[in-house]
Amino acid sequence: MSERVKPLMKLELKPVELPEVRKGARFWVRKARVGDVDQIHDLIKYWARESFMLVRSKGQLYENLRDFHVIEDEDGVLLGSVALHILWADLAEIRSLAVHPDRQGEGLGRMLVEAAEAEARLLGVPRVFAFTIQEEFFARLGYRVTEPGAFPRKVWFECRDCPFQDNCPEVPVLKVLEERDA
Ligand SMILES: CC(C)(COP(=O)(O)OP(=O)(O)OC[C@H]1O[C@@H](n2cnc3c(N)ncnc32)[C@H](O)[C@@H]1OP(=O)(O)O)[C@@H](O)C(=O)NCCC(=O)NCCS
Repeated sequence: MSERVKPLMKLELKPVELPEVRKGARFWVRKARVGDVDQIHDLIKYWARESFMLVRSKGQLYENLRDFHVIEDEDGVLLGSVALHILWADLAEIRSLAVHPDRQGEGLGRMLVEAAEAEARLLGVPRVFAFTIQEEFFARLGYRVTEPGAFPRKVWFECRDCPFQDNCPEVPVLKVLEERDA
């Protein structure tokens, strides 16, 4: 390549500075609001930069905001996020699960997934799944590793557009919330 040609940009996420958290501050789970998007975006970007999850644009977050639960602490800091995205009558995906790095291991991840599962039950969706590198975490919550072929619609809708399609480290994990006859 000519030395006069400069690349347009380096494809790497900028470091994210998350707000400081007060250890021990009380917190609660609630549905997300538009005012949460900047903090959700930062949290996901923080973990995407560490290669734990896929980055989401603010546009994607606004468009899918009704999928989201968040955990907020009493100081107004967002400590975690999760989305439940319905794919079909019998299947929903857990996405964008992230907990603030300074509040890990306190049960927040479990609370978020349980909130998403409760919503799935409320909506009558019997099976939830995730694509993840956090197999052990999901195993603790009753998820089992399954075959990617179990999710043809998911593969069609999202993986087809993913640049890491041929080099994906994530495994599919599934939890049946309600047994139904096929
Ligand atoms: C994965 C993640 C959401 C877990 O959240 P957390 O609040 O730290 O997890 P919890 O404290 O709720 O843990 C619940 C259980 O899972 C276990 N666990 C948590 N993370 C684990 C891990 N990485 N490996 C094995 N077990 C884990 C805990 O020990 C706990 O077990 P117990 O209930 O039997 O005591 C969090 O580590 C995170 O944000 N990671 C970075 C982003 C990411 O990987 N997101 C997932 C994308 S699919």
